[in-house]
Parts: sequence; C-alpha cells; structure tokens
Amino acid sequence: MANEPIIEAQGLTKRFSVKKKTVEAVTDLTFQVARGELVAFLGPNGAGKSTSLRMLTTLIPPTSGTARVVGYDILRRPADVRARIGYVGQLTSGSFSQRARDELLSQGAFYGMSKPAARKRADELIESLDLAGFANRSVQQLSGGQKRRLDVALGLMHAPPLIFLDEPSTGLDPQSRANLWQHILELRAKYGTTVFLTTHYLEEADRYAERVMVMDKGRVIADDTATRLKANLAGDLLTFGFATDADAERAAAVIQQLTDREVRREGAASVVLTAPEGDALLPAAVRALDVAGLQVQRATGVPPTLDDVFLALTGRTLREAGEGEPVEEESEETPDAAAEASGAAPQVAEKTGANR
Ligand SMILES: Nc1ncnc2c1ncn2[C@@H]1O[C@H](COP(=O)(O)OP(=O)(O)OP(=O)(O)O)[C@@H](O)[C@H]1O
Ligand SMILES: [Mg+2]
Repeated sequence: MANEPIIEAQGLTKRFSVKKKTVEAVTDLTFQVARGELVAFLGPNGAGKSTSLRMLTTLIPPTSGTARVVGYDILRRPADVRARIGYVGQLTSGSFSQRARDELLSQGAFYGMSKPAARKRADELIESLDLAGFANRSVQQLSGGQKRRLDVALGLMHAPPLIFLDEPSTGLDPQSRANLWQHILELRAKYGTTVFLTTHYLEEADRYAERVMVMDKGRVIADDTATRLKANLAGDLLTFGFATDADAERAAAVIQQLTDREVRREGAASVVLTAPEGDALLPAAVRALDVAGLQVQRATGVPPTLDDVFLALTGRTLREAGEGEPVEEESEETPDAAAEASGAAPQVAEKTGANR
C-alpha cells in the first residue's frame, strides 16, 4: 500500500460540448505521482490544467479514462477520494464574512473533526501559514495574499496526505509568492504532504518543484525535473561577439567544429548557439577561436528557462501560446456545481463567482 502511487491517472480524457462544438480539454492523461512528491503543472491558458485537477478531485467526471487517487477510484469511490484530499481552486475564498479562524473551524466540523481537534489543527495551520496576525479578522478584510494562505490552510485542515492547488500564487506580489512557497515547502517537510499544483510562474516551478509536467492543448508534452528538461530540451544560449562580420563568419565555422548543435550568425558580428554543455563549450570555443587567430570581443552564456523548454517542444513561447480560441463557459457538462456551490465539500469547493 505504502508504495502505491498516490495518484495514478490512466487515459483521462475530457471533452466539453459547447454550442454543438466539441472542445477536447484533456486528452489521454496518463501519469503517476509517488507519495511526498511536489509536482508543478505548467502550461498556457486553456492547456487543460484546471480540468485535469477537477477530474482528479472528482469535481467533474472524465469522458473516458480513469484514475486512482489516494488509493480509490475517482469514479467508483469519489467520496473516499474527497475525504482524503485537499483542493484549493483557481478562484479564491473571496467574500466570507466569518472570521478566518472560524472559517477553519467550520471546515474542520465539515470533516467531522471534534471541536478540540479542529481548534488544535487550526492553531497549527495558523502558525505554519503565518495567519496569526489576521486570524480574527473577517475573510472579506484580508488582502489577496492573506486570503490565498487561508485557502491553503482550508485545504489542509483535515490533514490530507495529498493537496491540489490550482494557481496558489497567482496575483500575489513577489514577496507573498516567496512566502507562500516557503510555507508550502515547510508543510511538506513537516507533514509529508504530497503537493500537486499549477502555476504560470515558470521561475517558481523551476526553483521549488522537483518535478515539472508541461501541458499543451490538453496533452502532457514533458514530465521530468526542471534541470533535466532544460538540459535535454533547451541548453545554454552562448553568444560570441567579434569586431567584424567577416570575423563572425569565420568564427561560426570554427565553433561548428566543436559541436553538433547548429551555430548561427545573429545580429551584427555575432554568433549564437544553444548547447546543453554550455559551461564547458564556452571556454573551449574561446580557446579554439584564439588558436584560429580570431579575437573574441564578447562571450556570454545564459542558462535556459522553462520557457525555452516550452519553445523547444512547441515552437511557441508560453506567452504566445496562451491566447487560444476563447470558449464560452456554457457546456453540457459543467463541474459538479451543486457540490461546489452548496459548500457540501468545502475543501473541494472552488468558490463560485466571477471567473477570472
Ligand atoms: N465547463 C467548461 N465548458 C466548456 N469548456 C470548458 C469548460 N471548462 C474548461 N473548458 C475548456 O477546456 C480547455 C481547458 O481549460 P482549463 O480551464 O483546464 O485550462 P487551464 O490550463 O487551467 O487554463 P488557465 O491557465 O487559463 O487556468 C479550455 O479550452 C477551456 O475553455
Ligand atoms: Mg486553470
């Protein structure tokens, strides 16, 4: 049991019908997550990240395929899944008039926790997520970053072994984002919680997640550590500058002898290439150019980003890729609106209201 993956998705596919047109939001999603992993799901707007999370959290049924989450089938045992996961949706808790602390206690009550147990847990989370300064304020009065931290605390109230966070850091200032991440990492270290989150901030995924899954047009197109993705798919960008175009032309031929990567002329008297072993290639190239009697005026190496990985995989940058065809939110299969709106499952409740 202990070695069983905490998430095991098999061919998850979701199609929405919108005005007689079919939108395939997620196609054949197959992957496993081991207990304790911290996985970041990346992809442009409309890639299918939230839809994937909603299927895994049992809010919407897949069109085909299935998944086991915390040991239970999402279709046959949704209640067992929900009882053992936390979910913080893309929209925030918004406008509750309860005090933040009471909101946590209500969540505990929903999960059948005794009052003392709920109070103890609320206190722990208030401390871990640094909510003490405003735990007695009503939720409406909290700032965006404070609300988001409260959202995470709500998702963790019943100490689930697995939490799904849909864009936990969107809209926060850099300081609050860094703080939220510290809290997530600490919670994970303290409770061993498995964290599966989505983010648009590539640097965050790069820095904090040990595993990055990249989604585009409903499909997972890469799944590895950020370091390996960057090394295998992108590589360092090396640029060499010379006094004249003629020098650059000759230099391109010299450098090309050292690598099977394409060496290109770019801009005035410059040569560029991307190579995974850039740190070693840069000095080797400078030496070879020296031997060839070419004077290098500039040599720089810039490490790749996850955006370069996406570019290498799709030919588009993540920013360009975001503007897919807009689809109106009107479909035959809507999320489990009753459960979401009634608060029947607050930890899996994306608070209804205006869409982003
Ligand atoms: N209830 C729905 N009815 C119809 N289409 C939907 C519905 N929910 C999602 N879609 C469509 O499915 C696709 C995937 O949407 P999804 O919300 O999963 O993307 P996402 O990766 O979370 O994007 P974002 O980064 O903008 O949050 C989009 O084309 C979207 O318009
Ligand atoms: Mg989304």
